[in-house]
Amino acid sequence: MPHIAERELELPDAIIGKLISLLHDKRVISLGAGEPDFDLPKPLVAYLKRIANKTNKYSPPGGIPELKIAIAKKLRKENRIHAEPENIVVTGGSQEALLLAAACALDVGEQAIVPNPSFLAYLPTVELLSAAPVFADTAASTGWELDPDEVRRRIDKKKTKVLIINTPGNPTGNVLKRKTLEELADIAVDNDLYMFSDEAYEKIIYGKKHVSIASLNGMERYAVTFQTFSKSYAMCGFRLGYCAAPPKLAAAITKIHVYTSICAPTVSQMLGIKALSLPEKYTSAMVTEYRKRRDYIVKRLNETGLRTVKPEGAFYAFAHVGKDDRRFAFDLLKKAHVAVVPGSEFGTAGKGYIRLSFATKLPLIKQAMDRMERFVR
Ligand SMILES: Cc1ncc(COP(=O)(O)O)c(C=O)c1O
Repeated sequence: MPHIAERELELPDAIIGKLISLLHDKRVISLGAGEPDFDLPKPLVAYLKRIANKTNKYSPPGGIPELKIAIAKKLRKENRIHAEPENIVVTGGSQEALLLAAACALDVGEQAIVPNPSFLAYLPTVELLSAAPVFADTAASTGWELDPDEVRRRIDKKKTKVLIINTPGNPTGNVLKRKTLEELADIAVDNDLYMFSDEAYEKIIYGKKHVSIASLNGMERYAVTFQTFSKSYAMCGFRLGYCAAPPKLAAAITKIHVYTSICAPTVSQMLGIKALSLPEKYTSAMVTEYRKRRDYIVKRLNETGLRTVKPEGAFYAFAHVGKDDRRFAFDLLKKAHVAVVPGSEFGTAGKGYIRLSFATKLPLIKQAMDRMERFVR
């Protein structure tokens, strides 16, 4: 039989995959999900019915022009990014944009700096391209804030080409301070690095203001901003995201998009145009609910002795459970029927922690926390 390429063989299996396969047990309450538990906003459901038979064609690979115009306008207004349609590439979720942008920015053997812990797709994305991820460690003691000095220490003058940041962050809920972003922006400029800014949770934020690093002085040539419809509009299944990049990089990403999926689903792009015209209330209603759940889950975790920094954004709590997070997560699933994700899935600095998603209804969270408290005691 022909062989399977080393780049795949060398990737470890995600534990999250094994956990998901155990979820069919009806007794299990899952705090593992990374997607909103809310329905699609009602106006989008109605619109979807209207466009159903008008969306069976491919779109241009960079996105439907009307959507690109709407995204550029949104970025200028909400994120203060000087974006035009030529900066935008619309993709099958922001995860596809990340892979395509990395493929255009990293040659074989070059390095990307990745926060530790961070979203579990970053490492494999870089590794699949035969490039090398390099961790910049963060810690609970500083609220999981990325330390610019730590980033500086990780830079290899010859090999480092990309720095990935994520605010609000998965799995920690950290929202990077403006001052940190300013220092990171200086690092990108001084070292001629692309700054990949994953802003999937830009609107899922509790009280603080989201700052896009691309809006800071001098970042037009370095910043690539990744955003998505998945979290803000509960549209995960529609697979619609985008990146805003310097025009030359955006053109390169668009060029290779033709060879991966040709274009993002046309029906999703049409829905995206509609979503961007909706009033803010649809997203803010979800955020209000997440906030209640966040306050509850963090209180319960701390009362149970599982130290948790209060997340400032996204919908995850990252709780300290002792040395062996994998064992804790598997035992919790087997004995208490509560599913969480071991922190070491997100990098070595996540060891000893678990991630609990509160994209789950409050009564279920309450039950899960009762079970967990009994399990821990
Ligand atoms: C930090 C982060 N970035 C990107 C994504 C991917 O989102 P999508 O591909 O649905 O846009 C996720 C999904 O959970 C995420 O947590």
